[in-house]
Amino acid sequence: MAVIDPRLLYLDIPEMDHDHEQLVAIANRISGIVEQPDYRQKDFAAELRALKEYTIDHFAREEAYMARIAYPGLSAHKLQHAKIMEALAALAAEGATRGAKIALSLRLFTQVWLYEHISGADGEYAKFAKGRT
Ligand SMILES: [Fe+2]
Ligand SMILES: [Fe+2]
Repeated sequence: MAVIDPRLLYLDIPEMDHDHEQLVAIANRISGIVEQPDYRQKDFAAELRALKEYTIDHFAREEAYMARIAYPGLSAHKLQHAKIMEALAALAAEGATRGAKIALSLRLFTQVWLYEHISGADGEYAKFAKGRT
């Protein structure tokens, strides 16, 4: 599973870039665990849980940030976050029992969420933030 370079996802908003870096780091750790020959289900489930928990915190910080800058796309963005959380919660629950068997779904999900959401929807509020300064 390819490792994601967080620099590809920078928005030039340090607090959000920091959060995205942490998310990428967890996603990359999950890829690493799955590829190990002595792969341990416990580690995988723990990292999946960490990804879910960090995502909850990140979304809360990001939504507060968008509210702070009075971003007009906030409610649509919140909906996207809710959908991602739903998918992530389902994956985490599945991963807890099926482990590496969900690696492919996890990779697809990570690609969509980390690449499309951050460079797409997150990029939009970043553009808006820059336009205001
Ligand atoms: Fe984000
Ligand atoms: Fe977002």
